[in-house]
Amino acid sequence: MQSRRRFLNTLSLPAAAVAVGMPLRPTELRASAIDISQELRRHVGAPDEIAGDEDFWFEVARAFTVDRTLVNLNNGGVSPSPGFVQEAMKRHLDFSNLAPSYTMWEILEPQREGVRSRMAREWGVEAGEVAFTRNASESLQIMQFGIDLARGDEVLTTTQDYGRMITTFNQRVRREGIVLKQIQIPVPAEDVSRIVRLFEDAITPRTKAILASHMINLTGQILPVTELTAMARRHGIPLIIDGAHALAHFDFSLGALDVDNYSSSLHKWLFAPHGTGLLYVRRDKIPEVWPLMAAPERMDTDIRKFEEIGTHPAANYLAIGEALTFHQGIGPKRKDARLVYLRDYWANTLLENDNVRLHTSQKPGFACGIANVEVLGVAPNDLRDYLWRQHRIITVSINHAEFQGLRVSPSVYTTISELDRFVDAVDHVAKHGLPA
Ligand SMILES: Cc1ncc(COP(=O)(O)O)c(C=O)c1O
Repeated sequence: MQSRRRFLNTLSLPAAAVAVGMPLRPTELRASAIDISQELRRHVGAPDEIAGDEDFWFEVARAFTVDRTLVNLNNGGVSPSPGFVQEAMKRHLDFSNLAPSYTMWEILEPQREGVRSRMAREWGVEAGEVAFTRNASESLQIMQFGIDLARGDEVLTTTQDYGRMITTFNQRVRREGIVLKQIQIPVPAEDVSRIVRLFEDAITPRTKAILASHMINLTGQILPVTELTAMARRHGIPLIIDGAHALAHFDFSLGALDVDNYSSSLHKWLFAPHGTGLLYVRRDKIPEVWPLMAAPERMDTDIRKFEEIGTHPAANYLAIGEALTFHQGIGPKRKDARLVYLRDYWANTLLENDNVRLHTSQKPGFACGIANVEVLGVAPNDLRDYLWRQHRIITVSINHAEFQGLRVSPSVYTTISELDRFVDAVDHVAKHGLPA
């Protein structure tokens, strides 16, 4: 068999690259991401002022390739990526396909370390504490399956945590005989000490793990994960944090949160390629968590043990870099302020109707761009279908045992006139009901 070195020597990579029209430095940060970010950085003004500066947000919106014949108000589910993020991914994929065992494994894969350190820097943690995963589900399942539990041990979460994460614990209930306890929390919840008390009161001597969302997907509710972690630490219990919707949505430093782990999707609010996620595990906690796919013992203390998933694309992960550049160009504080501005823009108008309820706090720090709105007497599924069929507006209907409504999540590319389309349509239903 030909040795690996001899095989590589037979490749004339630059020639091959030129032959297929590839750039010689395939992973360079292309001007477009940098250019637009530089342009955006030039705008001066406090985040609250920029939040309503439509010229600024028009520049941001131009980066996206979205279909403007419809109004997509489900950016919480999954986000479109800006054009230059898509292009970066395609470029890396093309380059990977020149000779994957060399171009993907040898050239591109090591560059993941650069993206890792940039992401770590941005969120105030160490590179050795950040793993890339395929999504928040994978990050969370690493945490949920990665701790040893015995028959009768209890895990605690809320009735509002994400369905797949409940399913994950329920599989352990069926397979290993653990016990899942779910508490109710108010909608909206605006009292930090009460929220912490509700969790603490449900702890028993058998409680071995707690799962809580930093931002609840159903309503956009932000939970006090720092205070919850401190409480869980006092009881010697790990708190698993579901930050699927929080990272790159509202502004915070992961390091300053002082938590032990954090799971997020990057294809939601960072606008990174679909199929990218992040898992943060505090350095001293890494040895305590088993990876989902086996890794050798020598990797016990290495965050990369969570990335031992076999062959995977390099393109997705490298293009996170472009998404990060864009995020930095927009500015996390300005993004946060804009998402609040958009929420209040549509919500305050609709709330002028007596029969409209917002199941989301408008108090600073308790929610951001995602909100849940109910038109009393109108089934959320019917309203969602009406908005889509009659107005080409995408929303999500939420039918929870404790509340119901439409989940609305505009994004940085959403225009005010698109929100007006939504407001006019729902306002009409609030006043006159759904057409027969
Ligand atoms: C609260 C929450 N957790 C986890 C997830 C899973 O994210 P993903 O589908 O990207 O794995 C979601 C997805 O919407 C979510 O809303």
